[in-house]
Amino acid sequence: MKQFTREKRLRTRSEQGTVGLGQLISELLVAPKLVVLRGELGMGKTTLVRGVAGALGADVEDVASPTFTLVHEYQGRRTRLIHLDLYRLDHEREVEGIGLWEMADAPDALVMVEWGDKFESVMERADAEIWMTQGEVEKERLLLIRW
Ligand SMILES: Nc1ncnc2c1ncn2[C@@H]1O[C@H](COP(=O)(O)OP(=O)(O)OP(=O)(O)O)[C@@H](O)[C@H]1O
Ligand SMILES: [Mg+2]
Repeated sequence: MKQFTREKRLRTRSEQGTVGLGQLISELLVAPKLVVLRGELGMGKTTLVRGVAGALGADVEDVASPTFTLVHEYQGRRTRLIHLDLYRLDHEREVEGIGLWEMADAPDALVMVEWGDKFESVMERADAEIWMTQGEVEKERLLLIRW
């Protein structure tokens, strides 16, 4: 696995707060990058991608969970945001089949992958990871960004 050398911790207390963190993350993690989003169901991974999409100048209304379609793409002002959810994949060869490596090689692409940590091959190539965990109160979420 790649060694991450930098880390940053953030906290949010609402869904809107998580969307708001998209700005900072879009400045921290500049394309081209493969970013793995880690954390349990409902922690806010898709919500955070919505925030990043907005910060990059894409149409935020569009952002939905790609759980069934696997890949969504949003065109920002300069960056293409590629959003994947690998929850439903079980085998390494399926990851190859969806063309993840080609996407990650595109110079203008910020690739954000939910459930990428299920696959060693994805973690090996990840440029960054964002862990989302539950905070002390219901809507609080703690983010650990490593890159
Ligand atoms: N601080 C918060 N940040 C983000 N979402 C929050 C927060 N507090 C509560 N929520 C709620 O948690 C849910 C997060 O859903 P979201 O789809 O973003 O999670 P996810 O991590 O992508 O889940 P999955 O693993 O199923 O894809 C939403 O229903 C949202 O309203
Ligand atoms: Mg999701």
